[in-house]
Amino acid sequence: MNEPISRRSFIRGSVAAGLATSLGAAAPLAARDDRKVRVGFVGVGSQGTNLLQTSLVMDDVEVPAICDIDTEHLERAQRLVEKRGLPKPEGYTGPEDYKKMSTREDLDAVVTATPWELHVPVLVDAMNNGKYACTEVPAAFTVEDCWKLVDTSERTGMPCFMLENHCYQQNNLAVLRMVRAGLFGDLLHGECGYQHDVRFVKFGPDGELLWRGKHSVTRNGDLYPTHGLGPVAHWMDICRGDYFDYLTSTATRSMGLNHFIRTKFGADHPNARRQYALGDIVTTVIRTYQGLTITINHDTQSPRPYSNMMKIQGTKGLYNELRKAVYFEDLSPEEHTWEPFDKYQEQYEHPMWTAWKEKSEQFGHGGTDYLKVRSFYDAVKEKKPTPIDVYDAVAWSVVTPLSEQSVAGGSVPVKFPDFTRGKWKTNKPIFGV
Ligand SMILES: NC(=O)c1ccc[n+]([C@@H]2O[C@H](COP(=O)([O-])OP(=O)(O)OC[C@H]3O[C@@H](n4cnc5c(N)ncnc54)[C@H](O)[C@@H]3O)[C@@H](O)[C@H]2O)c1
Repeated sequence: MNEPISRRSFIRGSVAAGLATSLGAAAPLAARDDRKVRVGFVGVGSQGTNLLQTSLVMDDVEVPAICDIDTEHLERAQRLVEKRGLPKPEGYTGPEDYKKMSTREDLDAVVTATPWELHVPVLVDAMNNGKYACTEVPAAFTVEDCWKLVDTSERTGMPCFMLENHCYQQNNLAVLRMVRAGLFGDLLHGECGYQHDVRFVKFGPDGELLWRGKHSVTRNGDLYPTHGLGPVAHWMDICRGDYFDYLTSTATRSMGLNHFIRTKFGADHPNARRQYALGDIVTTVIRTYQGLTITINHDTQSPRPYSNMMKIQGTKGLYNELRKAVYFEDLSPEEHTWEPFDKYQEQYEHPMWTAWKEKSEQFGHGGTDYLKVRSFYDAVKEKKPTPIDVYDAVAWSVVTPLSEQSVAGGSVPVKFPDFTRGKWKTNKPIFGV
Protein backbone atom coordinates (compact mmCIF):
# COMPACT_ATOMS: atom_id res chain seq x y z
CA MET A 1 0.00 0.00 0.00
CA ASN A 2 1.38 3.42 -0.86
CA GLU A 3 -1.21 5.72 0.56
CA PRO A 4 -4.75 5.19 1.74
CA ILE A 5 -7.55 6.96 -0.06
CA SER A 6 -6.87 10.42 1.23
CA ARG A 7 -9.29 13.19 0.38
CA ARG A 8 -6.78 14.36 -2.21
CA SER A 9 -6.45 11.02 -3.98
CA PHE A 10 -10.21 10.51 -3.83
CA ILE A 11 -10.74 13.82 -5.58
CA ARG A 12 -7.93 13.01 -8.02
CA GLY A 13 -9.76 9.77 -8.78
CA SER A 14 -13.03 11.64 -9.34
CA VAL A 15 -11.28 13.95 -11.76
CA ALA A 16 -9.99 10.90 -13.57
CA ALA A 17 -13.48 9.49 -13.82
CA GLY A 18 -14.68 12.80 -15.22
CA LEU A 19 -12.08 12.57 -17.98
CA ALA A 20 -13.26 9.15 -18.92
CA THR A 21 -13.84 9.45 -22.62
CA SER A 22 -10.75 11.36 -23.68
CA LEU A 23 -8.30 9.40 -21.53
CA GLY A 24 -9.79 6.06 -22.41
CA ALA A 25 -9.05 6.78 -26.04
CA ALA A 26 -5.54 8.13 -25.48
CA ALA A 27 -4.25 5.42 -23.14
CA PRO A 28 -1.50 3.18 -24.54
CA LEU A 29 -3.22 -0.05 -23.61
CA ALA A 30 -6.67 1.09 -24.66
CA ALA A 31 -9.28 -1.34 -25.85
CA ARG A 32 -8.29 -3.27 -28.93
CA ASP A 33 -11.84 -4.24 -29.82
CA ASP A 34 -15.43 -3.54 -28.85
CA ARG A 35 -15.89 -6.41 -26.44
CA LYS A 36 -16.58 -5.39 -22.86
CA VAL A 37 -14.86 -6.73 -19.77
CA ARG A 38 -17.48 -7.37 -17.11
CA VAL A 39 -16.03 -7.09 -13.63
CA GLY A 40 -17.42 -7.66 -10.15
CA PHE A 41 -15.70 -5.88 -7.24
CA VAL A 42 -15.42 -7.28 -3.72
CA GLY A 43 -14.38 -4.66 -1.13
CA VAL A 44 -14.78 -1.03 -2.15
CA GLY A 45 -13.10 0.68 0.79
CA SER A 46 -10.16 2.90 0.09
CA GLN A 47 -8.14 0.95 -2.49
CA GLY A 48 -11.19 -0.83 -3.97
CA THR A 49 -12.70 2.59 -4.71
CA ASN A 50 -9.45 3.70 -6.34
CA LEU A 51 -9.50 0.62 -8.56
CA LEU A 52 -13.17 1.07 -9.40
CA GLN A 53 -12.69 4.72 -10.35
CA THR A 54 -9.72 3.83 -12.48
CA SER A 55 -11.68 1.06 -14.21
CA LEU A 56 -14.59 3.41 -14.90
CA VAL A 57 -12.29 5.55 -17.02
CA MET A 58 -12.07 2.69 -19.50
CA ASP A 59 -14.76 2.54 -22.16
CA ASP A 60 -14.64 -1.24 -22.40
CA VAL A 61 -15.25 -2.02 -18.72
CA GLU A 62 -18.66 -2.72 -17.21
CA VAL A 63 -19.40 -3.35 -13.54
CA PRO A 64 -22.59 -5.41 -13.16
CA ALA A 65 -22.07 -6.29 -9.47
CA ILE A 66 -20.33 -5.01 -6.33
CA CYS A 67 -19.99 -6.68 -2.92
CA ASP A 68 -19.17 -4.92 0.35
CA ILE A 69 -20.44 -5.53 3.87
CA ASP A 70 -20.31 -1.79 4.52
CA THR A 71 -23.45 -0.41 2.88
CA GLU A 72 -22.08 3.15 2.78
CA HIS A 73 -19.07 1.95 0.79
CA LEU A 74 -21.29 -0.14 -1.45
CA GLU A 75 -23.68 2.72 -2.18
CA ARG A 76 -20.83 5.15 -2.85
CA ALA A 77 -19.44 2.66 -5.37
CA GLN A 78 -22.83 2.14 -7.00
CA ARG A 79 -23.21 5.90 -7.40
CA LEU A 80 -19.79 6.15 -9.05
CA VAL A 81 -20.83 3.59 -11.65
CA GLU A 82 -24.15 5.30 -12.30
CA LYS A 83 -22.41 8.67 -12.61
CA ARG A 84 -20.40 7.16 -15.42
CA GLY A 85 -23.67 6.48 -17.28
CA LEU A 86 -23.64 2.74 -16.64
CA PRO A 87 -26.49 0.73 -15.06
CA LYS A 88 -26.50 0.55 -11.25
CA PRO A 89 -24.53 -2.56 -10.24
CA GLU A 90 -26.39 -5.14 -8.17
CA GLY A 91 -25.23 -4.85 -4.56
CA TYR A 92 -24.22 -7.73 -2.26
CA THR A 93 -23.78 -7.06 1.46
CA GLY A 94 -23.50 -10.36 3.34
CA PRO A 95 -20.06 -11.45 4.65
CA GLU A 96 -20.03 -14.41 2.26
CA ASP A 97 -22.09 -12.85 -0.52
CA TYR A 98 -19.01 -12.77 -2.74
CA LYS A 99 -19.79 -16.47 -3.26
CA LYS A 100 -23.23 -15.66 -4.65
CA MET A 101 -21.79 -12.83 -6.74
CA SER A 102 -19.16 -14.97 -8.41
CA THR A 103 -21.78 -17.42 -9.74
CA ARG A 104 -23.21 -14.68 -11.99
CA GLU A 105 -23.09 -15.53 -15.65
CA ASP A 106 -22.53 -11.90 -16.63
CA LEU A 107 -19.09 -11.60 -15.00
CA ASP A 108 -15.76 -12.30 -16.69
CA ALA A 109 -13.64 -11.37 -13.70
CA VAL A 110 -13.71 -10.72 -9.96
CA VAL A 111 -11.42 -8.13 -8.33
CA THR A 112 -10.88 -8.19 -4.57
CA ALA A 113 -9.60 -5.30 -2.46
CA THR A 114 -10.76 -6.63 0.89
CA PRO A 115 -8.76 -7.07 4.10
CA TRP A 116 -5.99 -9.65 3.60
CA GLU A 117 -7.80 -12.59 5.21
CA LEU A 118 -10.46 -12.55 2.50
CA HIS A 119 -8.25 -12.54 -0.57
CA VAL A 120 -7.85 -16.30 -0.88
CA PRO A 121 -11.51 -17.27 -0.25
CA VAL A 122 -12.69 -14.72 -2.83
CA LEU A 123 -10.06 -15.72 -5.41
CA VAL A 124 -10.65 -19.46 -5.02
CA ASP A 125 -14.37 -18.99 -5.36
CA ALA A 126 -13.96 -16.81 -8.43
CA MET A 127 -11.71 -19.34 -10.17
CA ASN A 128 -14.02 -22.20 -9.24
CA ASN A 129 -16.78 -20.29 -10.99
CA GLY A 130 -14.74 -19.84 -14.15
CA LYS A 131 -13.80 -16.20 -13.57
CA TYR A 132 -10.45 -14.47 -13.98
CA ALA A 133 -9.36 -13.75 -10.40
CA CYS A 134 -7.61 -10.57 -9.35
CA THR A 135 -6.41 -9.43 -5.96
CA GLU A 136 -4.82 -6.52 -4.24
CA VAL A 137 -1.54 -7.28 -2.46
CA PRO A 138 -0.59 -9.57 -0.83
CA ALA A 139 -2.34 -12.51 -2.48
CA ALA A 140 -2.05 -14.75 0.60
CA PHE A 141 -0.24 -14.89 3.95
CA THR A 142 -0.03 -18.59 4.79
CA VAL A 143 1.85 -21.32 2.93
CA GLU A 144 -1.32 -23.43 2.78
CA ASP A 145 -3.27 -20.60 1.19
CA CYS A 146 -0.53 -20.07 -1.40
CA TRP A 147 -0.85 -23.72 -2.42
CA LYS A 148 -4.63 -23.35 -2.50
CA LEU A 149 -4.31 -20.58 -5.09
CA VAL A 150 -1.86 -22.56 -7.23
CA ASP A 151 -3.89 -25.77 -7.06
CA THR A 152 -7.16 -24.01 -7.85
CA SER A 153 -5.70 -22.07 -10.76
CA GLU A 154 -4.12 -25.22 -12.21
CA ARG A 155 -7.27 -27.31 -11.73
CA THR A 156 -9.70 -24.75 -13.15
CA GLY A 157 -7.37 -23.27 -15.78
CA MET A 158 -8.35 -19.80 -14.55
CA PRO A 159 -5.59 -17.17 -14.16
CA CYS A 160 -5.00 -15.41 -10.86
CA PHE A 161 -3.49 -11.92 -11.05
CA MET A 162 -2.01 -9.84 -8.25
CA LEU A 163 -2.25 -6.05 -8.57
CA GLU A 164 1.36 -5.13 -7.78
CA ASN A 165 1.53 -1.52 -8.92
CA HIS A 166 5.26 -1.10 -8.28
CA CYS A 167 5.99 -3.50 -11.13
CA TYR A 168 4.39 -0.88 -13.39
CA GLN A 169 6.34 2.05 -12.00
CA GLN A 170 8.12 4.10 -14.65
CA ASN A 171 11.64 3.77 -13.20
CA ASN A 172 11.24 0.08 -12.37
CA LEU A 173 10.14 -0.69 -15.93
CA ALA A 174 13.07 1.25 -17.41
CA VAL A 175 15.43 -0.68 -15.12
CA LEU A 176 13.81 -3.91 -16.31
CA ARG A 177 14.69 -3.00 -19.89
CA MET A 178 18.23 -2.06 -18.83
CA VAL A 179 18.65 -5.41 -17.08
CA ARG A 180 17.43 -7.22 -20.19
CA ALA A 181 19.76 -5.13 -22.38
CA GLY A 182 22.65 -6.39 -20.23
CA LEU A 183 23.77 -3.02 -18.84
CA PHE A 184 24.28 -4.42 -15.35
CA GLY A 185 26.11 -7.55 -16.55
CA ASP A 186 25.32 -10.67 -14.51
CA LEU A 187 23.06 -9.73 -11.63
CA LEU A 188 24.25 -10.28 -8.06
CA HIS A 189 22.13 -8.42 -5.56
CA GLY A 190 18.89 -6.47 -5.17
CA GLU A 191 17.57 -4.35 -2.32
CA CYS A 192 14.04 -3.19 -1.68
CA GLY A 193 11.52 -2.54 1.02
CA TYR A 194 8.23 -1.23 2.18
CA GLN A 195 9.06 1.75 4.30
CA HIS A 196 5.75 3.41 4.96
CA ASP A 197 4.41 4.97 8.11
CA VAL A 198 0.99 3.29 8.20
CA ARG A 199 0.30 3.82 11.90
CA PHE A 200 -2.72 5.87 10.87
CA VAL A 201 -4.30 2.92 9.05
CA LYS A 202 -3.51 0.43 11.81
CA PHE A 203 -5.71 2.43 14.21
CA GLY A 204 -8.99 4.30 13.88
CA PRO A 205 -9.71 7.86 15.03
CA ASP A 206 -10.06 6.84 18.70
CA GLY A 207 -6.96 4.67 18.71
CA GLU A 208 -8.99 1.50 18.22
CA LEU A 209 -7.33 -1.35 16.34
CA LEU A 210 -8.38 -1.68 12.69
CA TRP A 211 -7.94 -4.86 10.64
CA ARG A 212 -4.42 -3.96 9.55
CA GLY A 213 -3.39 -3.15 13.11
CA LYS A 214 -4.69 -6.48 14.37
CA HIS A 215 -2.05 -8.26 12.28
CA SER A 216 0.63 -6.34 14.21
CA VAL A 217 -0.64 -7.72 17.53
CA THR A 218 0.00 -11.38 16.78
CA ARG A 219 2.44 -11.59 13.85
CA ASN A 220 6.14 -10.82 13.59
CA GLY A 221 7.60 -10.90 10.09
CA ASP A 222 7.50 -8.99 6.81
CA LEU A 223 3.74 -8.48 6.49
CA TYR A 224 3.88 -6.58 3.16
CA PRO A 225 6.75 -7.79 0.98
CA THR A 226 5.45 -7.50 -2.58
CA HIS A 227 5.80 -3.76 -3.31
CA GLY A 228 9.59 -3.98 -3.30
CA LEU A 229 10.01 -7.62 -4.17
CA GLY A 230 7.79 -7.67 -7.27
CA PRO A 231 10.04 -5.43 -9.41
CA VAL A 232 13.22 -7.13 -8.13
CA ALA A 233 11.74 -10.54 -8.96
CA HIS A 234 11.07 -9.34 -12.50
CA TRP A 235 14.62 -7.98 -12.83
CA MET A 236 15.95 -11.33 -11.64
CA ASP A 237 13.61 -13.57 -13.69
CA ILE A 238 12.27 -15.27 -10.56
CA CYS A 239 9.89 -18.12 -11.53
CA ARG A 240 11.45 -17.86 -15.01
CA GLY A 241 15.07 -18.99 -14.91
CA ASP A 242 15.71 -18.57 -11.21
CA TYR A 243 13.76 -19.15 -8.00
CA PHE A 244 13.95 -18.24 -4.33
CA ASP A 245 15.86 -20.91 -2.40
CA TYR A 246 15.70 -19.76 1.25
CA LEU A 247 15.40 -16.69 3.45
CA THR A 248 16.39 -15.47 6.89
CA SER A 249 14.57 -12.68 8.74
CA THR A 250 15.43 -10.62 11.80
CA ALA A 251 13.12 -8.23 13.65
CA THR A 252 13.82 -5.34 15.98
CA ARG A 253 11.83 -4.99 19.17
CA SER A 254 8.36 -3.47 18.93
CA MET A 255 8.17 0.08 20.29
CA GLY A 256 6.51 2.22 17.62
CA LEU A 257 2.83 1.45 18.11
CA ASN A 258 2.97 1.87 21.89
CA HIS A 259 4.77 5.17 21.41
CA PHE A 260 2.22 6.29 18.80
CA ILE A 261 -0.86 5.55 20.91
CA ARG A 262 0.73 6.89 24.10
CA THR A 263 1.59 10.16 22.37
CA LYS A 264 -1.80 10.57 20.70
CA PHE A 265 -4.22 9.17 23.25
CA GLY A 266 -2.33 9.04 26.55
CA ALA A 267 -0.59 6.32 28.52
CA ASP A 268 -3.88 4.93 29.86
CA HIS A 269 -5.30 4.03 26.48
CA PRO A 270 -5.54 0.21 26.34
CA ASN A 271 -3.63 0.14 23.05
CA ALA A 272 -0.81 2.17 24.61
CA ARG A 273 -0.10 -0.68 27.03
CA ARG A 274 -0.81 -3.58 24.68
CA GLN A 275 2.02 -5.86 23.63
CA TYR A 276 2.53 -5.93 19.84
CA ALA A 277 4.30 -8.86 18.22
CA LEU A 278 5.46 -7.03 15.09
CA GLY A 279 9.02 -5.74 15.30
CA ASP A 280 9.25 -2.15 14.07
CA ILE A 281 11.80 -3.02 11.41
CA VAL A 282 12.04 -6.50 9.91
CA THR A 283 14.96 -7.29 7.61
CA THR A 284 14.83 -10.32 5.34
CA VAL A 285 17.59 -11.74 3.17
CA ILE A 286 16.69 -14.11 0.34
CA ARG A 287 19.16 -16.29 -1.58
CA THR A 288 18.16 -17.61 -4.99
CA TYR A 289 19.14 -20.91 -6.60
CA GLN A 290 21.44 -19.04 -9.03
CA GLY A 291 23.25 -17.45 -6.07
CA LEU A 292 21.73 -13.93 -6.12
CA THR A 293 20.71 -12.20 -2.91
CA ILE A 294 17.91 -9.76 -2.07
CA THR A 295 17.36 -7.76 1.09
CA ILE A 296 13.81 -6.67 1.91
CA ASN A 297 13.02 -4.14 4.59
CA HIS A 298 9.62 -3.85 6.31
CA ASP A 299 9.21 -0.63 8.27
CA THR A 300 5.62 0.48 8.90
CA GLN A 301 5.26 1.78 12.44
CA SER A 302 7.81 4.55 12.82
CA PRO A 303 7.61 8.15 11.58
CA ARG A 304 9.26 8.36 8.14
CA PRO A 305 8.76 9.42 4.52
CA TYR A 306 7.73 6.69 2.07
CA SER A 307 10.38 4.65 0.27
CA ASN A 308 10.85 1.35 -1.54
CA MET A 309 14.62 2.08 -1.74
CA MET A 310 15.06 -0.06 -4.86
CA LYS A 311 18.58 -1.14 -5.84
CA ILE A 312 20.00 -3.62 -8.29
CA GLN A 313 23.64 -4.53 -8.73
CA GLY A 314 25.50 -6.69 -11.22
CA THR A 315 29.02 -7.38 -12.44
CA LYS A 316 29.05 -4.20 -14.59
CA GLY A 317 27.23 -1.64 -12.48
CA LEU A 318 24.32 -0.70 -10.29
CA TYR A 319 21.14 1.36 -9.90
CA ASN A 320 20.06 3.21 -6.78
CA GLU A 321 16.53 4.62 -6.64
CA LEU A 322 17.07 6.87 -3.63
CA ARG A 323 20.03 8.53 -5.30
CA LYS A 324 18.19 8.53 -8.68
CA ALA A 325 21.54 7.38 -10.04
CA VAL A 326 23.44 4.59 -11.76
CA TYR A 327 27.06 3.67 -12.19
CA PHE A 328 28.38 1.53 -15.05
CA GLU A 329 32.06 0.68 -15.31
CA ASP A 330 32.11 0.83 -19.09
CA LEU A 331 29.56 3.65 -19.63
CA SER A 332 29.67 6.21 -16.83
CA PRO A 333 31.81 9.28 -17.60
CA GLU A 334 33.77 9.36 -14.34
CA GLU A 335 35.25 6.44 -12.43
CA HIS A 336 33.70 5.66 -9.02
CA THR A 337 31.15 8.45 -9.53
CA TRP A 338 27.36 8.20 -9.64
CA GLU A 339 25.66 9.29 -12.84
CA PRO A 340 22.11 10.74 -12.93
CA PHE A 341 19.48 8.18 -13.95
CA ASP A 342 17.43 10.63 -16.11
CA LYS A 343 19.27 9.91 -19.34
CA TYR A 344 18.73 6.16 -18.93
CA GLN A 345 15.10 6.67 -17.95
CA GLU A 346 14.57 8.42 -21.26
CA GLN A 347 16.60 5.99 -23.33
CA TYR A 348 15.05 2.86 -21.81
CA GLU A 349 11.51 4.17 -21.29
CA HIS A 350 9.14 1.22 -21.41
CA PRO A 351 6.54 1.42 -24.22
CA MET A 352 3.81 1.16 -21.54
CA TRP A 353 4.90 4.63 -20.41
CA THR A 354 5.74 6.34 -23.67
CA ALA A 355 2.28 7.65 -24.49
CA TRP A 356 1.24 7.77 -20.91
CA LYS A 357 3.49 10.07 -18.93
CA GLU A 358 1.50 13.29 -18.98
CA LYS A 359 -1.80 11.69 -18.02
CA SER A 360 -0.45 9.37 -15.35
CA GLU A 361 -0.60 11.72 -12.41
CA GLN A 362 -4.39 11.85 -12.57
CA PHE A 363 -4.54 8.23 -11.46
CA GLY A 364 -3.82 6.47 -8.17
CA HIS A 365 -0.26 5.62 -7.17
CA GLY A 366 1.38 7.77 -9.83
CA GLY A 367 -0.54 6.21 -12.69
CA THR A 368 0.44 2.64 -11.91
CA ASP A 369 -3.10 1.81 -10.76
CA TYR A 370 -4.25 2.44 -14.33
CA LEU A 371 -1.52 0.31 -15.90
CA LYS A 372 -2.03 -2.63 -13.58
CA VAL A 373 -5.79 -2.90 -13.97
CA ARG A 374 -5.52 -2.25 -17.71
CA SER A 375 -3.05 -5.08 -18.17
CA PHE A 376 -5.41 -7.37 -16.25
CA TYR A 377 -8.41 -6.38 -18.38
CA ASP A 378 -6.40 -6.86 -21.58
CA ALA A 379 -5.60 -10.43 -20.52
CA VAL A 380 -9.27 -11.05 -19.67
CA LYS A 381 -10.42 -9.71 -23.04
CA GLU A 382 -7.92 -11.70 -24.99
CA LYS A 383 -8.39 -14.79 -22.78
CA LYS A 384 -4.63 -14.81 -22.26
CA PRO A 385 -2.53 -15.61 -19.21
CA THR A 386 -2.07 -12.57 -16.96
CA PRO A 387 1.36 -10.82 -16.99
CA ILE A 388 1.74 -11.43 -13.25
CA ASP A 389 0.54 -14.98 -12.71
CA VAL A 390 -0.39 -17.16 -9.77
CA TYR A 391 3.22 -18.38 -9.37
CA ASP A 392 4.56 -14.81 -9.13
CA ALA A 393 1.76 -13.87 -6.74
CA VAL A 394 2.51 -16.67 -4.28
CA ALA A 395 6.32 -16.67 -4.63
CA TRP A 396 6.36 -13.00 -3.58
CA SER A 397 3.55 -13.24 -0.99
CA VAL A 398 4.91 -16.34 0.77
CA VAL A 399 7.77 -14.24 2.15
CA THR A 400 5.32 -13.23 4.88
CA PRO A 401 4.78 -16.63 6.55
CA LEU A 402 8.35 -17.75 5.87
CA SER A 403 9.73 -14.60 7.47
CA GLU A 404 7.48 -15.16 10.50
CA GLN A 405 8.91 -18.69 10.81
CA SER A 406 12.45 -17.39 10.53
CA VAL A 407 11.97 -14.64 13.14
CA ALA A 408 10.25 -17.07 15.53
CA GLY A 409 13.14 -19.51 15.20
CA GLY A 410 15.83 -16.89 15.92
CA SER A 411 16.54 -15.91 12.28
CA VAL A 412 16.82 -19.50 11.07
CA PRO A 413 16.97 -20.15 7.31
CA VAL A 414 13.60 -21.21 5.87
CA LYS A 415 13.25 -22.91 2.47
CA PHE A 416 10.77 -21.62 -0.10
CA PRO A 417 8.24 -24.15 -1.37
CA ASP A 418 8.58 -24.52 -5.14
CA PHE A 419 5.09 -23.49 -6.22
CA THR A 420 6.05 -23.91 -9.89
CA ARG A 421 6.92 -27.58 -9.29
CA GLY A 422 10.18 -27.17 -11.20
CA LYS A 423 8.72 -25.15 -14.07
CA TRP A 424 10.85 -22.12 -13.09
CA LYS A 425 13.78 -23.87 -14.80
CA THR A 426 12.17 -23.66 -18.25
CA ASN A 427 9.53 -20.89 -17.98
CA LYS A 428 10.30 -17.77 -20.02
CA PRO A 429 9.80 -14.14 -18.85
CA ILE A 430 6.32 -12.81 -19.59
CA PHE A 431 6.18 -9.44 -17.80
CA GLY A 432 6.91 -6.30 -19.77
CA VAL A 433 8.32 -8.19 -22.76
N1 LIG B 1 -1.50 -1.64 -4.10
C1 LIG B 1 -1.52 -0.67 -3.20
O1 LIG B 1 -0.72 0.24 -3.22
C2 LIG B 1 -2.56 -0.74 -2.11
C3 LIG B 1 -2.95 0.42 -1.44
C4 LIG B 1 -3.91 0.32 -0.44
C5 LIG B 1 -4.44 -0.91 -0.10
N2 LIG B 1 -4.03 -2.02 -0.76
C6 LIG B 1 -4.60 -3.34 -0.46
O2 LIG B 1 -6.00 -3.26 -0.75
C7 LIG B 1 -6.72 -4.09 0.16
C8 LIG B 1 -7.78 -3.28 0.87
O3 LIG B 1 -7.15 -2.28 1.63
P1 LIG B 1 -7.92 -0.94 2.00
O4 LIG B 1 -6.92 -0.02 2.59
O5 LIG B 1 -8.72 -0.49 0.83
O6 LIG B 1 -8.89 -1.46 3.16
P2 LIG B 1 -10.29 -0.86 3.58
O7 LIG B 1 -10.51 -1.31 4.97
O8 LIG B 1 -10.34 0.61 3.28
O9 LIG B 1 -11.33 -1.58 2.60
C9 LIG B 1 -11.69 -2.90 2.72
C10 LIG B 1 -13.14 -3.04 2.27
O10 LIG B 1 -13.49 -4.43 2.30
C11 LIG B 1 -14.79 -4.52 2.84
N3 LIG B 1 -15.05 -5.86 3.38
C12 LIG B 1 -14.65 -6.38 4.56
N4 LIG B 1 -15.13 -7.63 4.70
C13 LIG B 1 -15.83 -7.91 3.59
C14 LIG B 1 -16.58 -9.04 3.13
N5 LIG B 1 -16.72 -10.15 3.88
N6 LIG B 1 -17.18 -8.98 1.93
C15 LIG B 1 -17.08 -7.86 1.17
N7 LIG B 1 -16.40 -6.77 1.54
C16 LIG B 1 -15.79 -6.79 2.73
C17 LIG B 1 -14.84 -3.43 3.90
O11 LIG B 1 -16.16 -3.09 4.27
C18 LIG B 1 -14.12 -2.29 3.18
O12 LIG B 1 -15.00 -1.51 2.41
C19 LIG B 1 -5.68 -4.70 1.07
O13 LIG B 1 -5.30 -5.95 0.57
C20 LIG B 1 -4.50 -3.75 0.99
O14 LIG B 1 -3.28 -4.39 1.27
C21 LIG B 1 -3.11 -1.96 -1.76
